Amino acid sequence: MYTEEVMKHFRHPHNFGRIKSPDGIGRIGNIACGDIIHLYIKVKDKRISDIRFETYGCAAAISSSSVLTDMAKGKTIQEALKITNKQVAERLGGLPIHKMHCSLLAADALGEAIRDYMSKRNLSIPKELGKRHERVERVMRALGEKYKEQGK
Ligand code: FES
Repeated sequence: MYTEEVMKHFRHPHNFGRIKSPDGIGRIGNIACGDIIHLYIKVKDKRISDIRFETYGCAAAISSSSVLTDMAKGKTIQEALKITNKQVAERLGGLPIHKMHCSLLAADALGEAIRDYMSKRNLSIPKELGKRHERVERVMRALGEKYKEQGK
């Protein structure tokens, strides 16, 4: 069901792990499947100089996170914000339709990390990014409650 490119990134993910003292962190989960992505960025001269991720989820989420970090590394903040989940899926040679939300999770995690970076520096946050953040916060609260109920 997955392309070779998906399996390659799933077996040997690029940029896996954390960054010490990141400039921005994006945390996002999916309430339906419970998968979670943590994405860390370091910004130098307005470019993403380093980017790493920790994904607790399915093969599509891990491979999407891996390819997304390859795509975002070296890009300016503005360029990185233009990366869409469709582009992520294309770079993976496609994803099954019911797995497209996994690529969206990765793209949203990057948006969240950039929003966090901008907020810490008092930069003006694009309206769309602010709205997305509110949605992400609602999902993370719901996920927290779900895990509490399950005793996790
Ligand atoms: Fe949850 Fe893939 S099934 S992110």
